[in-house]
Amino acid sequence: MFSCDVKMWSLQNLLFIICIALICVTSTAAVIHVSGYEGRDVNVSCSYGEGYESYEKYLCRNDCGNSDVLITTTKAKKNKYSIYDDKKRRVFTTTLSDLSSVDAGKYWCGVTRTGKDTYTEVRLEVEPDSCCDRSTNIQSYEGGSVSISCSYESEDQNNLKYICRGKQPSTCLQQALITSDNTQNAQFRLTDDKESRKFTVNITSLTQEDSGSYLCGVHRNTGLDVFSAAELEVKDVPHFTILIYVVPAILVVLLILTFFLVMVHKNKCNRVPGDGVTVNINTLNTAEAGVKMNIYDIEDYVDMASLRPQDMSHDDDTGKDKSVYQNFTTTEDIDSQIYANHSS
Ligand SMILES: *[C@@H]1O[C@H](CO)[C@@H](O)[C@H](O)[C@H]1NC(C)=O
Repeated sequence: MFSCDVKMWSLQNLLFIICIALICVTSTAAVIHVSGYEGRDVNVSCSYGEGYESYEKYLCRNDCGNSDVLITTTKAKKNKYSIYDDKKRRVFTTTLSDLSSVDAGKYWCGVTRTGKDTYTEVRLEVEPDSCCDRSTNIQSYEGGSVSISCSYESEDQNNLKYICRGKQPSTCLQQALITSDNTQNAQFRLTDDKESRKFTVNITSLTQEDSGSYLCGVHRNTGLDVFSAAELEVKDVPHFTILIYVVPAILVVLLILTFFLVMVHKNKCNRVPGDGVTVNINTLNTAEAGVKMNIYDIEDYVDMASLRPQDMSHDDDTGKDKSVYQNFTTTEDIDSQIYANHSS
């Protein structure tokens, strides 16, 4: 029983030691992860131990055979590769320019020694320099404002947030319109709501030129920054004004027109039918030149004049014609009537 326990204990210890050993082995062979965008450059930095400052350094691909060596510090520039050894910091950096998808894969940083060289594994990821498959569509109007909301992961809460024009992640940060480090300028304002893990960029005084693609960016200290895309359409104002200004204006005009038509119709209905009325108003205008009248005079006159054809209506046709003729021509007659009204 006792010996069995001892056996169990030593077995557990053995397993524990094996585990520790495995972790140590894997951790010593730490892989350097590097990412870059297609068409852009990437830096691969590898550190080395004290005493190796004057040794030759190199970068190689795959299994690091002789034909796999891409560049060495003895020839600092070759094809799309360049190398620089910072001996003070004991870091050598290889720059790979104009990346393409075929550059992705496994590399080794090597230090040439007598005997076996030292190696550090490097994994390079190459991503297309465009974002994203999905984008949020936003619309607004000229002169107005708009808000672009960008969600982010909880791990990015304290990281730098920014927004830029276009669809290129590689240049987004250096061309940022606004960042969470400097949250306000003439046209843009950035607010970060860490609780709902969302930052909002408010754009004011919109013009047609503000239409287009935008990228929300979140800076990562390791690896590539994280992006989401938005598409903004700033619409022409005139169409909008037609709706809110011109349509009511037309309605008002129509209303006024209707009002006048109704008034005219009402006037017609109130009048005593007969030729006399309109004719007499015409003659009244001619009379006006010579005679000073007040409104009461005119009204009195019109009333009287409009009655005249009626008075004659029981006459024969020639009599009626006569009355019309008289109304048209005899100004003196009207004058005398007005004087008559005055005097009465
Ligand atoms: C690579 O390193 C060089 C030298 O430090 C620097 O000028 C360049 O901007 C770096 N490139 C990238 C893509 O980080």
